[in-house]
Amino acid sequence: MPRLQAEHVYKVFGRRPEDAVRRIEGGASRAELRADGTTAAVIDASFSVEEGQIFVVMGLSGSGKSTLLRTLNGLLEPTAGCVRFDGQDLTSLSERELREVRSRRISMVFQHFALFPHRSVLENAAYGLEVRGLPKAERERRAAQALELAGLKGWEKSWPDELSGGMQQRVGLARALATDADLLLMDESFSALDPLIRRDMQDQLLDLQKTLKKTIVFITHDLNEAMRLGDRIAVMRDGRIVQTGTAEDILLTPADDYVASFIQDVDRSRVLTAGAIMADPDTVPGTTTGAGQEIRTAEEFLAAAPATVRPDTPLSELFTACASSPVPVAVTDAAGRLVGAVPAGRLLAVLGEPTKKAETVAGTAAVPRAASVPGPEAGASEGKVTAGA
Ligand SMILES: Nc1ncnc2c1ncn2[C@@H]1O[C@H](COP(=O)(O)OP(=O)(O)OP(=O)(O)O)[C@@H](O)[C@H]1O
Ligand SMILES: [Mg+2]
Repeated sequence: MPRLQAEHVYKVFGRRPEDAVRRIEGGASRAELRADGTTAAVIDASFSVEEGQIFVVMGLSGSGKSTLLRTLNGLLEPTAGCVRFDGQDLTSLSERELREVRSRRISMVFQHFALFPHRSVLENAAYGLEVRGLPKAERERRAAQALELAGLKGWEKSWPDELSGGMQQRVGLARALATDADLLLMDESFSALDPLIRRDMQDQLLDLQKTLKKTIVFITHDLNEAMRLGDRIAVMRDGRIVQTGTAEDILLTPADDYVASFIQDVDRSRVLTAGAIMADPDTVPGTTTGAGQEIRTAEEFLAAAPATVRPDTPLSELFTACASSPVPVAVTDAAGRLVGAVPAGRLLAVLGEPTKKAETVAGTAAVPRAASVPGPEAGASEGKVTAGA
């Protein structure tokens, strides 16, 4: 059973929201509703998140990410549809039960969460436990543990203003970790950080995740961040999820021109892996088939290959090997068995694709950047979508 499930979730702000849902189901557009002063922030969102996964929701400003996130811990009640956490429909819980779930089992890390300036780092990290009424010694022990996990050992007695922005952000992360909640909801948690510190935080989160195996929903408008962190990624546009898949799915088969335009600037060589592009060794000249060259057994090919990599090796690490030898790079599994081959031509072809996509997108004028995002978000959107960091 998935940890978290959203089923046809709608969230409409404004008068008579249920009517608005019916109108959307009947084909009314978001713009038509907006003309009546009604905002369909989330439209028919469905997805599930498995235990231990990082599920990333990405999209332009105003696409509904934060609203969707708030329905996931019951801070907002869906206008239609439902959210299940461990199989339990959140809307079926009483206000008291919901508060209990929020304080013990689901933790939220905000982009601009505030540390209390007159409390030490330790007290700040222990805040969620204080709210829950844990005894002082117990909460300090757990907060100290969480601070260590977040790389802040030795800073317990410091004041927030003695910490850099990145370190303060880590106190926020520690606060969420200290509660022991196994579902973390992170809303643009790293967006306010400098690119280098941001990368550092991403590494740290991935590192923590290896041991903690939390279930995480992470919101970002940065596609590179989404691709680094997400086991699965949902792309939102105008309130709807337009594609859900792995980073590779999204890079190799974008659902539409909107998604394609996002991925133009992504460094594919760092996201795509040998496993995603490798060919069956039996079909590749120079490996085991010969085709115009000598025929090799799998063992001979492995010996002749300029490099042997694993399926999860990023393409960026294959360039040197591919450039130095006409023989394809060999891909082996954990047991050392040959599972694939990457010829130089295949590497170049995959990396060459985005140019073509970019041209198509520009040509059809279906680019969803500021130009076609309706309403007041347009101006804000353009600057916000970055493939940097
Ligand atoms: N409480 C509210 N009342 C009315 N409208 C709202 C409310 N909260 C959000 N909205 C509207 O819902 C839409 C989606 O907003 P939301 O904050 O979910 O977007 P977002 O994707 O998180 O954007 P950003 O990247 O800027 O944080 C916007 O048009 C917003 O104005
Ligand atoms: Mg938001």
